[in-house]
Amino acid sequence: MFELNVNGQSHQVDVPADMPVLWVLRDVLGMTGTKFGCGIAQCGACTVHADGDAVRSCLLTVADAVGRQITTIEAIGGTPEGARVQKAWLDLEVVQCGYCQSGQIMSAAALLKRAPKPTDTDIDDAMSGNICRCGTYVRIRQAIHAAAEA
Ligand code: FES
Ligand code: FES
Repeated sequence: MFELNVNGQSHQVDVPADMPVLWVLRDVLGMTGTKFGCGIAQCGACTVHADGDAVRSCLLTVADAVGRQITTIEAIGGTPEGARVQKAWLDLEVVQCGYCQSGQIMSAAALLKRAPKPTDTDIDDAMSGNICRCGTYVRIRQAIHAAAEA
């Protein structure tokens, strides 16, 4: 049994120690906003925050997540950066199919927390691990700048 803190709530989960947090979120806790893409840390669809840092939940094990504050797309709008990012995403109509976007938003919110006025290079560095098959990269960059100015 492991105790996980997700979005400010404590959950007791009876799962193997090496189960990825992505499976716990989706299959045990029923929080399906975090997406499965590749399962090998190559796409960013599964991005969550652990103590404020963007991490790939497909590789973060339950055992390694114990004692860390996990934040998911379901709660990121409750943070100042997350709220600004989500508003900018809507204003600029960033989303196409949407599959990658919860991961994109989580990476963008983590970036703004550590770099409130990011340059294009900062954005490209922070977002390079988040793949978008629909090619929304230009609007993502614009939206991050808009969120930084908001
Ligand atoms: S599912 Fe985790 S990075 Fe692709
Ligand atoms: S919006 Fe479709 S994969 Fe990014």
